[in-house]
Amino acid sequence: MSKIVQVKAIQIFDSRGTPTISCKVILDNGMEGIAMVPSGASTGSKEALELRDSEIKYHGKGVLNAVDNINNILGPLIVGNDPIQQEKIDQSLIDRDGTNDKSQLGANSILAISIAVSRVAASLKGISLHEHFSDLYKDMTGEKPQQSLPMPMLNILNGGEHADNNIDIQEFMIIPSGAESFTQAMQWSSEVYINLKEILHSMKLSTSVGDEGGFAPNLNSNEDAIKLIEESIIKSDLKPGIDINIALDCAASEFFKNGKYILSGEGKELSSDEFSDYLKNLISKYPITSIEDGMDENDIDGWKLLTKKIGNKCQLVGDDLFVTNKEILSKGIKEEIANAILIKFNQVGSLTETIRAIECATSAAYKSIISHRSGETEDTTIADLAVGLGVGQIKTGAPCRSDRVSKYNRLLWIEEENNKILLK
Ligand code: PGA
Ligand code: ZN
Repeated sequence: MSKIVQVKAIQIFDSRGTPTISCKVILDNGMEGIAMVPSGASTGSKEALELRDSEIKYHGKGVLNAVDNINNILGPLIVGNDPIQQEKIDQSLIDRDGTNDKSQLGANSILAISIAVSRVAASLKGISLHEHFSDLYKDMTGEKPQQSLPMPMLNILNGGEHADNNIDIQEFMIIPSGAESFTQAMQWSSEVYINLKEILHSMKLSTSVGDEGGFAPNLNSNEDAIKLIEESIIKSDLKPGIDINIALDCAASEFFKNGKYILSGEGKELSSDEFSDYLKNLISKYPITSIEDGMDENDIDGWKLLTKKIGNKCQLVGDDLFVTNKEILSKGIKEEIANAILIKFNQVGSLTETIRAIECATSAAYKSIISHRSGETEDTTIADLAVGLGVGQIKTGAPCRSDRVSKYNRLLWIEEENNKILLK
């Protein structure tokens, strides 16, 4: 048995230039696993706490206290453990923190160790990270998942909190549903992306990109964004609704104020009923097959309405709604709201709890989508997580900017090296 001999963390930077944590777990045989933690901008209020220093330095966003918590408290706690025992290690970190939302020592500290442990465990076993994740799922649930390449959802037009434009909906994604391989999915997506750039350029609209690598022009309405995407699909000689579908992440909690959905970009103030009709109208006119956070995270009646209206024909994804939290998801399943969950491991703060949330979704026939955060690093763990657990879907931004593309590039290698693992 190999043991952990050291856990070491430093402060690094994410794709927005904001501090985050990098953590190394070192074994007695010299092997190392390294992890970097992502960070959100449009966060759900029930997410586990991301510990930030309250000093003036780094605009109050330093993570030096969280780094100290790893180096001085959490790291020493797991020294001597076998890195294969992910669940036991995660549990001891969670117990040491002792709060429900990891607010004592920070979800970012705990997650950094949790991921680094999994990475060194895979090296120790001499297998790929996705294979190791598949084993972990089996150890925890008794069921070995069917590994597969995920269908990517690429956010090619950014609005909301991720851009400085006037678009209220946060993400306009393409899903290359008709592709027969991950490679083909990425070929089509990059062609559509470049064609969208050309169309925007020809219309004298901005081709600067937002936080997730999608374009961020000013437009007259959310619907105009969808029309432009449809146009770029056609310009790529692909068929909207057959080769490529469209997905939205409204991130509606960001524009829900005093009981109304405020679309300031188009001068509308809508009730839950009216906004769910607004979305219903969009899916009837365009090939939109997935809508995330279509309603505010606390507007449960709105979620019920939306699920009733379009839940049978559209994937309805809870992100801020479920925050990768098994208990919150279980409640939502009972209330029959949404039909899918977005999985972001930093929302809950450990690998073990992330896997539990996926297991809970799967057992209720809810779909899971593995997701990046808007603040990312070059860490590609989520690519392996999507493959190893065979969840079938990943969203990790536009086919542009290395913080996004690093995940897609990792998936291209996985496809190359495992041609028996097919696109789900
Ligand atoms: P976030 O955005 O990482 O800023 O929360 C991503 C999302 O809402 O899906
Ligand atoms: Zn979201």
